[in-house]
Amino acid sequence: MATSKETVEVLLTESRVFMPPKELVECSNVKRWMEAHGIRDLDELLKRGEDLEWFWGEVAKEFVEFYSPYKKVLEWNPPHAKWFVGAQYNIVHDALDKHQNTWRRNKVAYIYEGEPGEVEKLTYRELYIEVCKLANALKSLGVKKGDRVGLYLPMIPQLPIAMLACAKIGAIHSVVFSGFSAMALAERMADAEAKVIITCDSFYRRGSKIPLKSQVDEALKMAPSIEKCIVYKRTGDQIPWDEKRDLWWHEIVKDQPKFCETERMDANDILYLLYTSGTTGRPKGVIHCHGGYAVGTTMTLSWVFDLKDEDIWWCTADIGWVTGHSYVVYAPLILGATSILYEGAPDWPEPDRWWDIIERHGVTVFYTSPTAIRMHMRFGERWAQKHDLSSLRLLGSVGEPINPEAWIWFYRHIGGERCPIMDTWWQTETGSFIISPLPITPLKPGSATKPLPGFSAEVFDEYGKPVVNAGGNLVLLTPWPSMLMGLYKAEERYRSTYWEKYPNVYLAGDIARKDSDGYFWIQGRADDIIKVAGHRIGNAEIESACVSHPAVAEAVAIGKPHPIKGESIVVFVVLKEGVKESEDLRKDIRLHVRKEIGPVAQPDEVWFVDALPKTRSGKIMRRVVRAKILGMPVGDISTLSNPEAIDELTKAR
Ligand code: PRX
Repeated sequence: MATSKETVEVLLTESRVFMPPKELVECSNVKRWMEAHGIRDLDELLKRGEDLEWFWGEVAKEFVEFYSPYKKVLEWNPPHAKWFVGAQYNIVHDALDKHQNTWRRNKVAYIYEGEPGEVEKLTYRELYIEVCKLANALKSLGVKKGDRVGLYLPMIPQLPIAMLACAKIGAIHSVVFSGFSAMALAERMADAEAKVIITCDSFYRRGSKIPLKSQVDEALKMAPSIEKCIVYKRTGDQIPWDEKRDLWWHEIVKDQPKFCETERMDANDILYLLYTSGTTGRPKGVIHCHGGYAVGTTMTLSWVFDLKDEDIWWCTADIGWVTGHSYVVYAPLILGATSILYEGAPDWPEPDRWWDIIERHGVTVFYTSPTAIRMHMRFGERWAQKHDLSSLRLLGSVGEPINPEAWIWFYRHIGGERCPIMDTWWQTETGSFIISPLPITPLKPGSATKPLPGFSAEVFDEYGKPVVNAGGNLVLLTPWPSMLMGLYKAEERYRSTYWEKYPNVYLAGDIARKDSDGYFWIQGRADDIIKVAGHRIGNAEIESACVSHPAVAEAVAIGKPHPIKGESIVVFVVLKEGVKESEDLRKDIRLHVRKEIGPVAQPDEVWFVDALPKTRSGKIMRRVVRAKILGMPVGDISTLSNPEAIDELTKAR
């Protein structure tokens, strides 16, 4: 992975510092933990966090209950770690079972709001019963420990229910974001060799019904491992039905017992696979396990967002992405929190839908993305001003760098200049926050601040030397409990992607700068991954979707800065001999990519060119295209075989 000089330019010079409110600091969960351990201040806490065995052992005591004790906190055989070695565990014990013996069984776990407006509250008891019934139904279909189950569901309670039901019986869930297309779903299901898939008829988005079951039907033609398809009736739409394969959710759970024994797993057994984009055309199946993942996600949520029993937590991320897995499903449930689950679009039927939800349900801690914040900025603060947002006490941001302007808008107009913003840097692979403020951290708008206690990050130059006040590769120096345990059926890719550039050091794939105070400023991806509205899409995935269009011979996709979405997708294509350029064809290529991957990957711009810059060996030089389009120096072009193609780009039609 090359880090060109241009990308490591230091772009931010933000110098404001926001001190955390005293009352928040005094009552914070992290302060309480520090006091219990005789730790005086944040620096000392960070220092104590360097003793990984001690620190994570202490943290685990507070947050999880193993069935049997572990023999060792950490076994590190780079690049593979095992956490809480030898313990028997199942994350569902902490997320659901243990609450059944306490007052929490009657606490609301999810306040669900459908897009049309219906509200449903599910207590921990009700959630538990739903999970047990579905778990029993899955068992009756022959799903066993270690089997993969695909989940293709929108933001309705049945998605967490299905995840927990799988985990309860030791099956491995693989959730596919409901905005992905049939092709993308098929590819992921085939790689995971899933046995069963769970979906719904359709769901509501911007007032329309978005079909899912018909996508599944198409996908299953290409995913032969799937034997059964379970369908939840969300909208009551007419759907095609295969008598031999399809089953209604409500029918299979109807007569199931309300209790299902939780499978005792090894702490390092797989909990889920989550496919994410890499630098090649094929998405990679990130593996997370029960034990370490539970400890890492729960501690970070408790400390960073300071959740208390009386809080109403709203993480707006879709459960189809890692943020939803960790911070809508597992960690909030382990903490026994009450979370909001909202099915629909943030601006439906009016741009104040989110602010209305915050007011009506009394949300206290609100975690969202810079893209969403910028979108609401564009609508204007008058929409937020229509609502009483005084219940809020903490805010958060994730998924892409937040520009100081958006940070300040969020702070002022949503947080009423009262609520610190937790800008959390992390990845599908890291499972939990890594670089993030705590409620006791002085904040600099646009910086995710420092690695949390128990985590260790650095910025390295090309030679592996730490650099300060200059851009470089963001790396993680020590293993952490919620880290990925590997890539599914792709050990070599796991090693080469993350652990090869700097031996035994995790390469995150981001460019960052560390300032003289040790604060990290994330500047974006160093590799070929585009972040569109916080969604992670590989350039290569878009290109391979383009060239699967019958008219396209070659394609290159790049990300271009976009004022709201962070980046937009721009594609240059060379058409096959004899194919005529036209507006219809341009539109058709955009729709084709949408169909191949999903609406999130639809290119914003498609340009026709006669040639693309290539190396002598025929590889398209994406780096050169990107530099040219962004008006940056094109850098070293000694390996370029057709320099005239660079000028072609400016003449693109
Ligand atoms: O580039 C970083 C960006 O999102 C990438 C990870 O994407 P994904 O695996 O989809 O997970 C997103 C949610 C955790 C990172 O490599 N990113 C994530 N959080 C931030 C960020 N960039 C800047 N600031 C953040 N807070």
